[in-house]
Amino acid sequence: MTERKKEIISAMFDKLAADYDRNNNIISLFTHKIIKYLVIASVGKLPQNPKILDLCTGTGDIAVMLKNRYKSANVVGVDFSKEMLNIARKKHSQIDFICADCLNLPFKDDTFDLATISFGLRNTENYEKAVIEINRVLKSGGIFVHLDFDKKSKLADYVFEKIVKSFKNENYEYLLKSKEEFPDSAQLIKLIEQNGFKHLKTNNYLLGIISAQYFTK
Ligand SMILES: C[S@@+](CC[C@H](N)C(=O)[O-])C[C@H]1O[C@@H](n2cnc3c(N)ncnc32)[C@H](O)[C@@H]1O
Repeated sequence: MTERKKEIISAMFDKLAADYDRNNNIISLFTHKIIKYLVIASVGKLPQNPKILDLCTGTGDIAVMLKNRYKSANVVGVDFSKEMLNIARKKHSQIDFICADCLNLPFKDDTFDLATISFGLRNTENYEKAVIEINRVLKSGGIFVHLDFDKKSKLADYVFEKIVKSFKNENYEYLLKSKEEFPDSAQLIKLIEQNGFKHLKTNNYLLGIISAQYFTK
C-alpha cells in the first residue's frame, strides 16, 4: 500500500483545495453533485434535531446538502485540510467545520445520529481505524453512509484515469493510486461489518462506477 502519512495527505489537499470543486466537476463530468444529492435523499427519516457528522468533508458539499435537507440538524463537518475547510466555511454559516483527524475524533462516544463519508475513507491513513472511530461516535441505531468509486467498470476506470492524467499534477497521480488500492464495495462491506455495523443497502450510480453503502450501528 502507498505510504500514507497524515501530514503528507493534508498538505496535498491544502494544495488541491483552490481547484478542487472545479476539478471534481471535470472528473465526474458534472455528475458528482447529483449523485451526492441522491445519496442523501436516500438516507430516510432521522430523529428530531439530529446530530450529523460529515467526515473528510473537504469543501463541504455533503455537509451543506445535509443541512439543507435536515434543517433542524446540528451538522458538523470534519477535515484536517485547513484550505479545504476555508472553502467549505464560505458555503454555509450554520455548519460547524472543524479541523481534526478522522482517526481521532474530538467527540464523545454515541454522539451522532448520522455519519457520512464521501470520497474520503480511501484517503485516510488507515481505513479500519477510521471505521472503528466512526462506530465509536455514532449512536446505537445510527446510520453510516459511505460513498466512493466502486470497481465495477474497467471502461470507466480507463476514462477516469485519462481525465485525471490530463491534469499533469502529481497529487492527482496519488489519488489514482489510492483508488486502485482501495477495496471494492463487497470487501469494504465486509470490513465495515466486522467493525460493529450492519449493512442495510447499497445504491449504485453511473452503472456501478460509484456506489453508496448504508449501514446501521
Ligand atoms: C477527495 S476529498 C473528499 C471531499 C468531500 N467529502 C467530497 O466528497 O468532495 C478527501 C478529503 O479527506 C480529507 N482527509 C483525508 N484523511 C483525513 C483524515 N484522517 N482526517 C481528516 N480529513 C481527512 C482530505 O483532507 C480531503 O479534504
